[in-house]
Amino acid sequence: MKESELLKQGAEAKIYRTSFCGRPAIVKERFRKTYRHPELDDAITVDRIKAEARALARCRKLGVHAPTVYHVDLARRRIVMQDLPEATTVREVICRLSASEGAGCAPLLALAGRVGHLLAALHAAGLVHGDLTTSNLLVDPDLRTVTLIDFGLSGAGGGAEELAVDLYVLERAVLSTHPDSAPITGRVYEAYRAAWPGADAVLRKLDEVRLRGRKRLMLG
Ligand SMILES: Nc1ncnc2c1ncn2[C@@H]1O[C@H](COP(=O)(O)OP(=O)(O)OP(=O)(O)O)[C@@H](O)[C@H]1O
Ligand SMILES: [Mg+2]
Repeated sequence: MKESELLKQGAEAKIYRTSFCGRPAIVKERFRKTYRHPELDDAITVDRIKAEARALARCRKLGVHAPTVYHVDLARRRIVMQDLPEATTVREVICRLSASEGAGCAPLLALAGRVGHLLAALHAAGLVHGDLTTSNLLVDPDLRTVTLIDFGLSGAGGGAEELAVDLYVLERAVLSTHPDSAPITGRVYEAYRAAWPGADAVLRKLDEVRLRGRKRLMLG
């Protein structure tokens, strides 16, 4: 592996850009959280790395775009994966386009449709992302290919409730990027519903999850 350049420091990990066997690669290295007991920290980190590597592989089998895993190194707390150097986060795209063209503009609605379609494929297989923010959705510059990343909190065999929480997290993330996010989330759900027969049950659960979220906000 070639020398690495620090790209980002997230809440859990450092992201380096490097190359692996001649291919552009990303190293995601989870750092120690000093507030945790070291053994507990090791156990949590290993769980997250395994969950992430497993989910990335499952996504690719399902035809859901996700970076290819090149190498897993539990001792060094690392995953080496395919780099998507051109991609930006959906968060950045929503911020940019909603400021210049409005949240209901055609390119944003088309992107929302693609996100809904991709989530339907993920959820139809029972895969829960676990941290479905707009920063964990990457998109190519032409806004066509949407790629999911950051699966450390993911799990398989999710029921309607867990899948609905995924959608709720996404809804809150979109809302945090634009006050009038309803056209965007509405389009996500429309595409989600059209792509998967199980969607209705999840969207009904989402109403309950949303209500609980609101109550929690009111109680402070
Ligand atoms: N395979 C990849 N190709 C290109 N960029 C990537 C890739 N993986 C991660 N990134 C970039 O690094 C950022 C952080 O990655 P990731 O979400 O996996 O880590 P994180 O520690 O959970 O970060 P955060 O706390 O910000 O969510 C992403 O938002 C993205 O901009
Ligand atoms: Mg992330």
